[in-house]
Amino acid sequence: GSTAVVIPAAGRGVRLGPGAPKALRELGGAPMLVHAVRATARARSVTLVVVVAPSDGVRGVRALLDEALLEERGLPDIVVVPGGETRQDSVRLGLEALPETIGTVLVHDAARPLVPADTVEAVAAAVRDGAPAVVPALPVTDTVKEVEPRGAGRPEPVTGTPDRSRLRAVQTPQGFARKVLAEAHARIAAEGEGATDDAGMVERLGVDVVVVPGHEEAFKVTRPLDLVLAEAVLARRRA
Ligand code: CTP
Ligand code: MG
Repeated sequence: GSTAVVIPAAGRGVRLGPGAPKALRELGGAPMLVHAVRATARARSVTLVVVVAPSDGVRGVRALLDEALLEERGLPDIVVVPGGETRQDSVRLGLEALPETIGTVLVHDAARPLVPADTVEAVAAAVRDGAPAVVPALPVTDTVKEVEPRGAGRPEPVTGTPDRSRLRAVQTPQGFARKVLAEAHARIAAEGEGATDDAGMVERLGVDVVVVPGHEEAFKVTRPLDLVLAEAVLARRRA
């Protein structure tokens, strides 16, 4: 089967502060979503991109992408579907839009607009080579503590320090055999459960997940400082 990318882009971006939905905020003169679509659409094996837009913004996103990508040749098909309340809902809605011919699916956050095409292609290749679930990740640089959460700036008792050499910070695109990810989303949604990433849902099915090297430019734009970094990365690329 061929390879599709689902791009969840229906979040508000609360941690980025007031303004347009995060995927529509501009970086280097183009919305973050346009960067994310370009980065994934340029990976050679991708034949379809499904953008999951805010549910009241499907027409606007469609028009924006048509305009931004008008001049680009040889792009895969791009469809836009409405998203849901949570990222997990949005990914499930994107998966439901895939035709049967898709064998490999990558899920890529619009909030990681600067992922290199080579990283995208490496994840897709690992799935095609037989891994049912593939996650790009980097070693963790901070030491991580486990705590008893107290919240609101109160001191929190430390309950442990995991061995940092065994920890990885995961990125997207995460790649899957389509049937595996569709089954994980269907079963876990039915059980009313959640997970913070797609691979976490697949792990619950007992399916093996592997990590491959991520890329520092695949960082997630979450807080205002991340926008400063993203602008600097774009400026360096253009220099
Ligand atoms: N996302 C989505 N549908 C939602 C929530 C999130 O498609 N209901 C998408 C976001 O658009 C983003 C990705 O999931 O591309 C990763 O989520 P995150 O970085 O948390 O973005 P937001 O949820 O928009 O940000 P915040 O949590 O700060 O509100
Ligand atoms: Mg969020």
